[in-house]
Amino acid sequence: MRNFELYVPTKIIFGKGEIKKLTTEVPKDKKILLLYGGGSIKKNGIYVQVTEALKDHEVIEFSGIEANPEYTTLLKALEIIKNEDIGYMLAVGGGSVIDGTKFLSSAALYKGDNPWDILAKRIRTFEGLPFGTVLTLPATGSEMNSGAVVSRSETNQKMVMGGPGLFPQFSICDPTVVHSIPKRQLANGVADAYTHVLEQYMTYPADAPLQDRFSEGILQTLIEIAPEIIKDPSNYKAASNFMWCCTMALNGYIQKGVPTDWSVHMIAHELTAFYGIDHARTLAVILPSAYTKKFEQKKEKLAQYAERIFNISEGTTEEKAKNAIQKTEEFFQSLGIETKLSAYTDDYDGFSQKVAKNLKDHGMTALGEHQDITPEVAAEIVEMAY
Ligand code: NZQ
Ligand code: ZN
Repeated sequence: MRNFELYVPTKIIFGKGEIKKLTTEVPKDKKILLLYGGGSIKKNGIYVQVTEALKDHEVIEFSGIEANPEYTTLLKALEIIKNEDIGYMLAVGGGSVIDGTKFLSSAALYKGDNPWDILAKRIRTFEGLPFGTVLTLPATGSEMNSGAVVSRSETNQKMVMGGPGLFPQFSICDPTVVHSIPKRQLANGVADAYTHVLEQYMTYPADAPLQDRFSEGILQTLIEIAPEIIKDPSNYKAASNFMWCCTMALNGYIQKGVPTDWSVHMIAHELTAFYGIDHARTLAVILPSAYTKKFEQKKEKLAQYAERIFNISEGTTEEKAKNAIQKTEEFFQSLGIETKLSAYTDDYDGFSQKVAKNLKDHGMTALGEHQDITPEVAAEIVEMAY
């Protein structure tokens, strides 16, 4: 196992009815900025619970953070933070609202002239404006990690940022919020969390059986609960397990002491940047091609995954590994997610070269656990996914 440090300071408050704890978790001596998205929280009762819990706090609201949070929208919130002397933020939403809040947390204390540099120059954040979250959509794990992704559609860019200063102080994870999530977003959540696990698992054997089994446990649980949650999102048993799987998939634990890949995400982000395709769907498009392209390097773990997740005991390592890629694609399809780019757009001529250029421009020239996925290799993976 590799050496590692583990720092996961976010307090998780999990369970039915826990949103009321905002009253004591959010500081009363600071002006609060409450951030949310396009309004789903006003229809499903979450907004009422949040404002009721904060009725004795001084709160200013900022709404309209869109899916794949936009830099230009966030700049408007940044102005409010500065003009109103905001001392604490509360994100109420899914990955997009939480990620947007993380960008603001960093930008609020940033000393440079241009906050875009935090993304473009990949400046790590060691201290941010403090914030907490109320998770409304299980998927990204953003509620318990220190990463964020921000988009700038005018320039077809989708960029990652992070740093130890960007962990939420607390996250309230109440599985009853799942009842109002549309089927498409539920499928996205399952596919995103599933891929998060694979990005940290599907590399090469690293003498870390506990991490492997943690990962396999999350994958098996997601496969088990996916049909139940999509059928009935008000099923509390399924919703609570779905929510905790998504958090555990990307809160840092399963990646400690092992190599990680993340090339699927970095390449897939370009599909959202150019076409606006939902994050999880871009992963389902890229992952099968990425694993086919890197087959030789990943085949041992692919075969282990075939055996332990899909009960494939027959055949050679290669046969099991190939079968595992096929089964993974079928799993995404079983969620109603298309796994080829051509299902989302007709306009992909020359797209692979645009991806290669963007990756090069952003300094992402050596992706994957072996750092051997160059922009040219990434372009081939994209072409295989057409
Ligand atoms: O905006 P509203 O009206 O709230 O509607 C949202 C949004 O349209 C809706 N929604 C959220 N909770 C709901 C609900 N609808 C009904 N009931 C509820 N309880 O769902 C839509 C999608 O929300 P969004 O936050 O965009 O989804 P998700 O959580 O999948 O976040 C996606 C973003 O996170 C980034 C992605 O790249 C993308 O930008 N990621 C962040 C990561 C991280 N910080 O660690 C890792 C991921 O790999 C990912 O890259
Ligand atoms: Zn993801």
